[in-house]
Amino acid sequence: MQNSRKRIDAHLSSLGYCSRSEAKKFLKMFRVCINGVRVFETDKKALHSDITVNETQLDPENLTILMNKPSGVICSHDDAGILIYSLLPERWQNRNPKISTVGRLDGDTTGAILLTDDGVLNHRLTSPKSDVSKLYEVTLAQALRGDEAEIFASGTLMLNGETKPLLPAKMEILTETLVHLEICEGKYHQIKRMFGAVGNRVIALYRVRFGEYDVQNLAPGEYKILN
Ligand code: URA
Repeated sequence: MQNSRKRIDAHLSSLGYCSRSEAKKFLKMFRVCINGVRVFETDKKALHSDITVNETQLDPENLTILMNKPSGVICSHDDAGILIYSLLPERWQNRNPKISTVGRLDGDTTGAILLTDDGVLNHRLTSPKSDVSKLYEVTLAQALRGDEAEIFASGTLMLNGETKPLLPAKMEILTETLVHLEICEGKYHQIKRMFGAVGNRVIALYRVRFGEYDVQNLAPGEYKILN
């Protein structure tokens, strides 16, 4: 619950500063204060906004982050490889509830991705009913053949293994092998499968924008807090 009075060890452990069992030691090692008064008892209750650690306000209770995902990192908590979460500060990696990506990008896809510990927000943005628009820059192996924009806009394209056709998508041609494609769904490997369905292959995929959020001012691997 946002800014409710909770035990100090509960605040510290949910925000990843230390585990509950380490809290006593943490209070000895760091200057944890409630309204400026140092505390050593783990069961002292306080509002999040009244607590400081070494004179610094606690990390926010809800954390939503926009990242420019670099290639080669994986949007998963448990797959083998370099996980996207390893790019975040260690303390954030230890938060409970966990920070998770809003949907997933493939390992080799780059660009805008949100991460949040707010499960309700995450569900709202990823549910099939969500109509958040996502704009991708797609680099293709072969020159366009000419009918792709029409097929993608038709609302009739059926991908293998799906039971319903894709919603209409908007394609803008930049060069014969480079397009912008705007979709408002998030099916597994959707963009790669769409171009597979029209006899092409995606060789690079960059998400320019997720909803209203773009990563123009963020280098690959950089992120900023949104809340
Ligand atoms: N579509 C894909 O094929 N891959 C992604 O990472 C995102 C959308």
